[in-house]
Amino acid sequence: MPINYEATSLRDCLCASLTTSDVGKKITVCGWVAKRREHGEHLAFVDVRDRSGVIQAVVDGSVDVRNEYVVRVTGTVTLRPEGTVNEKLVTGEVELTDCVVEILSAAEPPPFQLDDRVEIDEQIRLRHRFLDIRREQMQKNLRLRAAVNSALRLAMQRQGFCEVETPLLWAPTPEGAREFVVPSRLHPGEFYVLPQSPQIAKQLLMVGGFDRYYQIARCLRDEDLRADRQFEFTQLDIEASFVDQIDIMEFVSQAVLDAAEAATGVRPKDFDAMTWREAQDRYGSDKPDLRFAMTLQDLSEFFVGTQVKAFSAPTIKAIRIEGGATYTRSRLDQLTDLAKELGAKGLAWFKISHEGLESPLDRFLSPAEREAISSVDGAKPGDLVLIVADEYALACKVLGALRVHVGSPPVSDGPHRYVWVTEFPMFEGIDEDGNLMAAHHPFTMPHPDDIELLETDPLAVRSQAYDLVLNGWELGSGSVRIHRGDIQSRVFRALGITNEEAENRFGFLLGAFKYGAPPHAGFAFGIDRLTAIFAGEENIREVIAFPKTQSGADLMTGAPKSIPDRQRKELHLPAPTKAK
Ligand code: AMO
Repeated sequence: MPINYEATSLRDCLCASLTTSDVGKKITVCGWVAKRREHGEHLAFVDVRDRSGVIQAVVDGSVDVRNEYVVRVTGTVTLRPEGTVNEKLVTGEVELTDCVVEILSAAEPPPFQLDDRVEIDEQIRLRHRFLDIRREQMQKNLRLRAAVNSALRLAMQRQGFCEVETPLLWAPTPEGAREFVVPSRLHPGEFYVLPQSPQIAKQLLMVGGFDRYYQIARCLRDEDLRADRQFEFTQLDIEASFVDQIDIMEFVSQAVLDAAEAATGVRPKDFDAMTWREAQDRYGSDKPDLRFAMTLQDLSEFFVGTQVKAFSAPTIKAIRIEGGATYTRSRLDQLTDLAKELGAKGLAWFKISHEGLESPLDRFLSPAEREAISSVDGAKPGDLVLIVADEYALACKVLGALRVHVGSPPVSDGPHRYVWVTEFPMFEGIDEDGNLMAAHHPFTMPHPDDIELLETDPLAVRSQAYDLVLNGWELGSGSVRIHRGDIQSRVFRALGITNEEAENRFGFLLGAFKYGAPPHAGFAFGIDRLTAIFAGEENIREVIAFPKTQSGADLMTGAPKSIPDRQRKELHLPAPTKAK
């Protein structure tokens, strides 16, 4: 007999574990009343629900319970009478009969029905999250998350990684989002910063000789919230010494493959890979969704010296929308507006028919241009071709976004397509002060072939940074780190970070590097995002037990809240000024 770990002093087993092989046994289960029906005065049916599911308890006589009462029920496992088997229920062939029901706790009527078939207002769900997570879907999601965490831990341990916990009360980290700060009671006017990631701590662990570190780490960033972003989130964070990016990619792939297998029962194929440049060229994005094609086509060569004013631009990019010739004028106007919002000057569209092209621009095209558009990406009658002409980066960005807007399947639609994107640019543009901005963070090692461009052509410098993307979501990112002081100084200089500022912000890391820094690299990915995709959920809130709303509020606890004067004074905080 296998050991029954579910047996406790109060119950023998879980409700949904009962099967026909238990018929005849006297059993006690505990749980919440999911439903209660009375058949006259002499017979009552009570569905008892625990985390495993539901069992029907039959009581001779009436029973004074309501939905969500907590009960302990003892009865005999019996085959259901013919014609009353419930195929939808795992325990549908059996029931508990001759039941004695003990009320462990009464319950007020819940503010919403705890039934997955009912659409419930999000605000109400979050206000009563403790009830919301009783629902089957939330139970499934949170348990899926636990299975993912557990698989990740095992995978990292198997690969020789050591779990180390790093502080939450910390100093600024280099991720670049706004930080949450915590006032210090003992040091008036000074603050801790909650870590945006364990980035610096894990690099210090490398100096400290922990050559394979991992952590399931809580991270905090005060940024605008959206479907894939919360203030607090969890990363699988790793760092290793004496490795190159290929090693890190392998460690991470193994962990993600294990997690995917634990969550979905299927081990995905090995991951695709492409450079950042290829991702821009073909998908107009650094997080390409490979579940659908509609790739960006480059028509620039056909429009050199064109007479069409709208097309006299360095780059002409096109996408083909299969069957898109049926789009109405207002749908095309909508797409044009979207393209303009993203910065394009306009959007050119061409419907392909047996007679030729249908478009306001058709009469301006040369025969060669017309031919190029008509045959782009295997176009055929009934298709629609969208074109953006602009600078390379903008043309890619706009068409990439339109591609996703038009073609992206819902999160719940498989398959899961993983892709590594490598060779990110080192810098992603120039800030208001005229300084370059790091695309990843300032400790990222430049590509060995591009180091000499740091001073002469910094925007062309590629880095040794890489992302893992799943179905168009950025799952995680990482990089080979700079472990040499001379290269670090050059990168700081390019970023406009003065020696003094570097010393102030990261002095303890740079100081530590003087005592023997091994070459190292690392990665972190969002467990909330990974689990949400496994669960088929569009919003990571659905895989977080107690999330915040879009405006950063916790509707259940009421946080953020004001604090009593006494506490404020202790923390040396000024009295709040009243909003006018
Ligand atoms: P990065 O800042 O790219 O890298 O973060 C890594 C991953 O963390 C997840 N993530 C989030 N998930 C939910 N809500 C958020 N607000 C949020 N912000 C980030 C994403 C993201 O891809 N220290 C580096 C990693 C490294 O270089 O090792 C870092 O944190 O899935």
